[in-house]
Amino acid sequence: MIYKKKDFFIEKVKASKLAKIYSTPLYCYSYQKLSENINYFKKMFKSIDPLICFSVKSNPNKILLSEIRKLGLGADVVSIGELMRSLKAGIKPNKIVFSGVGKTSKEISYAIQKKILLINAESKSEVLEIEKLAKAKKRKVDIGLRLNPNTDAKTLSQISTGKKENKFGVSEKTFLNLIDYIKKSNFINLKCLSVHIGSQILNNKPYEKMLKVLEKIIDKSEYNFEYIDLGGGMGIDYENKNKNLDLKKYSFHINNFLKRYKTKIIFEPGRSIVGNTGLLISQIIYIKEGDNKNFIILDAAMNDFMRPALYNAKHRIIPLIKTNTRSKKAYEFVGPICESTDKFLTKKKFQKLKEKDFIAICDVGAYGMALSSNYNLRPKATELLIKNSKIQIIYKRQSLKDLI
Ligand code: LLP
Repeated sequence: MIYKKKDFFIEKVKASKLAKIYSTPLYCYSYQKLSENINYFKKMFKSIDPLICFSVKSNPNKILLSEIRKLGLGADVVSIGELMRSLKAGIKPNKIVFSGVGKTSKEISYAIQKKILLINAESKSEVLEIEKLAKAKKRKVDIGLRLNPNTDAKTLSQISTGKKENKFGVSEKTFLNLIDYIKKSNFINLKCLSVHIGSQILNNKPYEKMLKVLEKIIDKSEYNFEYIDLGGGMGIDYENKNKNLDLKKYSFHINNFLKRYKTKIIFEPGRSIVGNTGLLISQIIYIKEGDNKNFIILDAAMNDFMRPALYNAKHRIIPLIKTNTRSKKAYEFVGPICESTDKFLTKKKFQKLKEKDFIAICDVGAYGMALSSNYNLRPKATELLIKNSKIQIIYKRQSLKDLI
């Protein structure tokens, strides 16, 4: 994804051309970026030889999922819908793990029936429910138990999950008690300890602390876990300042951990696999002049891309056609939805823009389309996958007819 002279290209395709043909708002993903990310992730953790389960919640697009499967990943799912879709995308059950604090009996039954690798339980009640359903099916089911390590991920509070005030996992005490319970069960088999302390983590310190907590608890339990599922959370560089999480360092810490325990590592990355693969292209509907700033009113809104409204996340915005101009006034990029939080970014000294120009919001591949909605009865956007000069429609814009 680069400028060639003044035009922005996604692989070999001019982005402004896509905007004109497929209309906006328009999600576009680069296949090359996707495969680069996956290969990079594998390379960084090569010495660990982990099972990498893509966190489907970050981007559940069917075709993207099947490309991710072809690139060798399994799936981390959190609902029956995600589980069905992962199976449909051809992901083998023995590469699927199921997380979440509120799996229903129907979801657990389906997961048991499909013989997925692990159901990661998050409470005593859930363990009992899995046991009950396994007994009814006369099966012994492999499970994981999610520990709440009470570790601060040092990320946004809204996406932090590993502290004791968060609803996720069980405390050390419950964890140890449940191990004793499960050991005696004929219908559940404890194979995995799982954790996930949060998302968009940019510093290795929280992971280091988390591993220390795991060591303490594994030692106390004297239990041999066949798998340790470390979750996802690896942060990416939204600001373009070379601030990604240092995966090599993380790998180093895990290798140290593995010197003490013979176990298979599972990862559940979402954002680090798809985050920077996607752009959201949008057209300027109006420019509204204010005293200190101009409002750039886009045809994309918070229903299409929720992260700025929900987490005050800052995503870079770029013009699809570059000019050598600079606006004296600041620009506030907003959507047309009737909410004040429906805004994306305020930029000073952006190039001068006109009505009908196209811009792109960057790094929207994770939790972009996944979090989109029909708020204000707006149809969900088209998604395209670009591979070299090939353009594939991987989701077709909802029609107004469908909505109405
Ligand atoms: N595993 C578990 C158990 C999770 O809860 C999550 C994310 C992941 C893996 C994947 O995390 P990742 O590698 O993508 O950071 N909507 C928010 C992020 C919510 C994350 C929820 N859990 C956002 O847009 O930042």
